[in-house]
Amino acid sequence: MLPSRRYHITTFGCQMNKADSERMGGILESMGFNWCDDPLTSDLIVYNTCTIRDSAEQKVYSYLGRQVERKRQDPNLTLIVSGCLAQQEGEALLRRVPEIDLVMGPQHANRIDELLQQVFNGQQVVATEQIEILEDITKPRRDSMVSAWVNVIYGCNERCTYCVVPGVRGVEQSRTPDAIRSEITALGKQGYKEVTLLGQNIDAYGRDLPGTKANGQNLHTLTDLLYHIHDAEGVDRFRFATSHPRYFTDRLITACAELPKVCEHFHIPFQSGNNDILKAMSRGYSHEKYRRIIDAIRHQLPDATLGTDVIVAFPGETDAQFRDTLKLIADVGFDLVNTAAYSPRPGTPAATWPDQLSEEVKVERLREVNELGRAIAEQRSQRYLNRVEEILVEAQNPKNPSQVLGRTRGNRLTFFAGEISELQGRTVPVRITQVRPYSLTGQQEPEA
Ligand code: SAH
Ligand code: SF4
Ligand code: F3S
Repeated sequence: MLPSRRYHITTFGCQMNKADSERMGGILESMGFNWCDDPLTSDLIVYNTCTIRDSAEQKVYSYLGRQVERKRQDPNLTLIVSGCLAQQEGEALLRRVPEIDLVMGPQHANRIDELLQQVFNGQQVVATEQIEILEDITKPRRDSMVSAWVNVIYGCNERCTYCVVPGVRGVEQSRTPDAIRSEITALGKQGYKEVTLLGQNIDAYGRDLPGTKANGQNLHTLTDLLYHIHDAEGVDRFRFATSHPRYFTDRLITACAELPKVCEHFHIPFQSGNNDILKAMSRGYSHEKYRRIIDAIRHQLPDATLGTDVIVAFPGETDAQFRDTLKLIADVGFDLVNTAAYSPRPGTPAATWPDQLSEEVKVERLREVNELGRAIAEQRSQRYLNRVEEILVEAQNPKNPSQVLGRTRGNRLTFFAGEISELQGRTVPVRITQVRPYSLTGQQEPEA
């Protein structure tokens, strides 16, 4: 018999974690648990954690503190810490917070049922060993009814000197093209209209798969995968993230240009605009190579939207090197720049280097890069003014119920007046009347 029935999952971190949470939610529901919005009245709590920066880690500990208080009053509460911090800390997490029932790394997300049974049998469980990720048979509990994440490759084999991800997500494991295709086909049947393919380094897709060919095609690159899944019925849009400049190919751009459902939207982190810093980061490309990729995209797809991630104040970064990053942002003209000040992470080489920069430098560079990123995004949004964009409608605007929200093919959030019951999941033409750095407002146009 299960001791409790209401569950809540709080998700920290990136899209991989969101996808894992949806899978864990699906499994918990198949075990008879019911979703509860309020973490403070649920009987089972999952904190699906992130450890990419120290701030992400500290946030988890502060959330955990509240549940520990509850658990002292109510021993029937089940407390689970999953995800990347769980993997990084393992048993140490139990020593620090003995109230936790289950510590489970991201590779174990699909086994939460099995692990919970051990908890209900009275054990305190740590599951952080490297394993082969099992193919899922449970349906995820997806947050959106329109747009779905689909993992194509787990883990990362890169060794960027600042990054915890390879340590906590393990080595690359690609799913087979057929497993991916059948998941997408099922999503199309269930009414999902948009699929985002996920991987930490999605361009590495397929390189760990055995060399078999299905239907005479080589299906072992991301590009081939796009051709393989493209005709999935019901799905209107595909996206993919995250691209790595070291492996990004012209063939991929051509596939995006040729395949009508693949959106003209790229997320390609460059991290630094300076070659010495890129080298110290072990990124495996120069800013010149990065610029060539952008030129090739703009050549084939002039209106494509471009997103990126950058790290400022990496150990030893001089002011002039930081300016190279600003220059690259301004030269390219990104639609979205995710920024972070360098944060030393356990077990990574850069954390041990002596030339760490001060908090003041981090704060100041972050402020400057954010200001530039926002100004450029605002400029980029201008091009939408008065244009008619195809908007895939996702949901009601939570801040204004007379409006719905959706996205352009380029992934800009767009609001317009409409009735969600009529519009959800439909792609409609919308004339853009107002632009902001990261969102647009418009009016629905009569359909041709
Ligand atoms: N796989 C992706 C990014 C994964 S992590 C890639 O290779 O680009 C997401 C972002 O977090 C990174 O792009 C980087 O900008 C940031 N990040 C990772 N480690 C960090 C650290 N130690 N300090 C600050 N930012 C970091
Ligand atoms: Fe981290 Fe580099 Fe892998 Fe991205 S490619 S997840 S930054 S190690
Ligand atoms: Fe964070 Fe893990 Fe993603 S560390 S960014 S949740 S891969």
